[in-house]
Amino acid sequence: MDFHVLELFSGIGGMHYAFRSAAVPGKVIAAMDINTNANAVYAHNFPTTSVCNNNIQSLTPEKIEKLNVNMILMSPPCQPHTRVGNRLDVDDNRSDGLQHICNLLPLCQGVQYILMENVKGFEISKAHDQFLDALRLAGYQWREFILCPTQFGIPNSRRRYYCLARKKEFCFDGGHILDDIPIEFRMGVIDGMMISNLLLPDNLIGPECYLPDKILSKRVWLMDIVTAEARKTMCFTKAYTYYSEGTGSIYCPLNKKEMDIVFAKVKELELSEESEALRLELLKSLKLRYFTPREIARLMSFPNTFEFPTETTNRQKYRFLGNSINVHVVGVLIKILCS
Ligand SMILES: C[S@@+](CC[C@H](N)C(=O)[O-])C[C@H]1O[C@@H](n2cnc3c(N)ncnc32)[C@H](O)[C@@H]1O
Repeated sequence: MDFHVLELFSGIGGMHYAFRSAAVPGKVIAAMDINTNANAVYAHNFPTTSVCNNNIQSLTPEKIEKLNVNMILMSPPCQPHTRVGNRLDVDDNRSDGLQHICNLLPLCQGVQYILMENVKGFEISKAHDQFLDALRLAGYQWREFILCPTQFGIPNSRRRYYCLARKKEFCFDGGHILDDIPIEFRMGVIDGMMISNLLLPDNLIGPECYLPDKILSKRVWLMDIVTAEARKTMCFTKAYTYYSEGTGSIYCPLNKKEMDIVFAKVKELELSEESEALRLELLKSLKLRYFTPREIARLMSFPNTFEFPTETTNRQKYRFLGNSINVHVVGVLIKILCS
């Protein structure tokens, strides 16, 4: 059977790459997102897919039928379910797109397979209950997961909620949220990947990647700093490089032992109230820098063929990647969905 996919809330096309990585027969027919700049990135990488610059709320059962798709892949906005988004849930108008899809599903008989991704926290929302009600009404079976790329040997944390739904029975039990993939599908673990496997050569690191003095002296203690031998980085959010705390890891090119020695010296200086300038010099010797968009794309399992068009700004690149998905994890889930 060929899978014909409609990718909704498509952003820069993480789901499209995941569909490719699942290597199931079929193709992504159309993608829809309201963000023109994200759509430009999508179109740059997938020139043969029809990219609709539209609000999802303009979709009708007739339009979906006309596209002749049997699968929907989607990652609706997560802000209604995050702490920084105030958890307004269905009262946040960014939930309207998903609610619209919930209303459409019982009217779209041709759609047989759905994968939905959202933040951890979605599973306790009203939007979640509405989504499951819509699946039930439309005659789907479903399985829910909360998974992190680190479970697949990928050195990046991005714990996310996933729902697989289809009109055919699953061959494994549901009824609760699974925290791992069923044993018969565990073929996707990447063995022993370290940060060093993903880094760009030093000559490709621009001066803008290094932490400015102000951030070094004021914010360094709030940051998660990793070295090349690390096997984990924080989840990169769309605010990476913009806010220092909790938005993604910082890279230090020294080895861990050398880095710890420098930090111990910096701490001593603080205790002895030595000059600020000396402290800053020591911090500068750490050569701390942000991960580049290419390195983050690699941590999120995007292939090296993925590119941003030249007009995409660095700020946009970090925002788009922070909104996207881990391609490998979703690829494994699509394989399960299509099994
Ligand atoms: C979590 S991001 C999805 C990212 C995508 N999976 C990727 O790999 O880049 C949510 C996306 O939904 C889009 N969006 C939000 N509300 C929308 C709406 N009502 N109609 C169309 N797109 C919408 C945003 O522009 C954003 O790109």
